Amino acid sequence: MIKQEMVVNLNKQLNLELFSSNLYLQMSSWCNSNKLEGSSKFFKQQSIEETSHMHRLFDYLIDSGNTPKISSIDSPPEHFPSLKEIVQFSYEHEKMISKKIKNLSFQAIDTKDYLTFHFLKWYVEEQCEEEKMFKSILDRIELVNEDPSGLYFVDQILKKINNS
Ligand code: FEO
Repeated sequence: MIKQEMVVNLNKQLNLELFSSNLYLQMSSWCNSNKLEGSSKFFKQQSIEETSHMHRLFDYLIDSGNTPKISSIDSPPEHFPSLKEIVQFSYEHEKMISKKIKNLSFQAIDTKDYLTFHFLKWYVEEQCEEEKMFKSILDRIELVNEDPSGLYFVDQILKKINNS
């Protein structure tokens, strides 16, 4: 049985994953209206993946006999100066999520909740991948230094990440 404090924190994480999904969907919309088709598809896929992260938590709470609660979710930012800012924002966002997951893992160990600790292992690995991915995209954007033809090249790379 999961302790109540852990249920509360897992539920907070569930709602944070929903926020992440909305954030990437909004970014997809920005990219689309700025003619960055590949980036728009990439962020839409990120949004779908974040929804799946939310569902994992939802199912874990249900399967352990709890009742997930969906909170009101803050609107994500809507206006961005550039693709570079979007990717930088995403990278910082994922680093923040990683910290939250690590805190949940520490809490699970502290309270000898080994089932939840095991459940969270998937998120720890996923966060590692996501941070690595956003950092590598950011590095590429910095390499082309916002040059329009270089940005087109980055946009095409993002399109391929989406399809891989
Ligand atoms: Fe599910 Fe990228 O946090």
